Amino acid sequence: MSARGLSFGIDIGGSGVKGAIVDLTTGELTHERIKITTPQPSTPAAVASACAELCTRANWEGPVGLTLPAVVLDGYARTAANIDPSWIGTDARALFSEALGGRTVSVLNDADAAGLAEDRYGAARELDGLTLLLTFGTGIGSAVLYNGTLVPNSELGHLEVHGVEAEHMAAASVKDREDLTYAQWAERVSTVLVTMENLFWPKVFVVGGGISRDYGKWIPLLSNRTPVIPAVLKNTAGIVGAAMAVAEGITP
Ligand code: BGC
Repeated sequence: MSARGLSFGIDIGGSGVKGAIVDLTTGELTHERIKITTPQPSTPAAVASACAELCTRANWEGPVGLTLPAVVLDGYARTAANIDPSWIGTDARALFSEALGGRTVSVLNDADAAGLAEDRYGAARELDGLTLLLTFGTGIGSAVLYNGTLVPNSELGHLEVHGVEAEHMAAASVKDREDLTYAQWAERVSTVLVTMENLFWPKVFVVGGGISRDYGKWIPLLSNRTPVIPAVLKNTAGIVGAAMAVAEGITP
């Protein structure tokens, strides 16, 4: 983190690589986020050069936090969802550090980053005990937080629910693909949440991802027992969490 409390986060997704300078005193971006379309194929080398371009465009030379839609352990990507399969087994930390001229980097799962950001600055700020954050997008990402501590790589979107992976049943992309109404989709989300709450007994679910902007259309339709509240950082949560991770040395 720079003397002025600034850090830099990059959120890597299947469609966009997004980055910005983050003011860690407020959790806000200091400028509009910069977005580059994810290169196709989204190989490690191609994505790493997109990240270098983002830093150049933002005129940022300090440490960088990055997210991947993948399990990340000790800097290595261990899975790859919605990005090229050649990520699996890649030393992402070494790759990004080299592509960014040898600077310090942190790499973590995208939903974990969103969870850190919501916990510090957003919807989970005042919560204690166990909070489950779920992001609904192309897949379902998850972050498990206990009294502000992240339990990384929970990957609850892959939990089997009635014989189907949760994200195949209830990701936001499934709603679009199958042209479901909010009522139909909320029923599926409820089924997923009931499975999770029976296993983990969280105090609250925080729901994020683009569809959380329309939370008024579906949160009231949910029938599970645990309270569900919308994320507040919206599409900046991954960037902010990534920036926090590198500034604070959070490495899953
Ligand atoms: C991936 C997770 C990711 C989530 C949201 C899932 O398919 O397995 O690692 O957090 O999508 O991008």
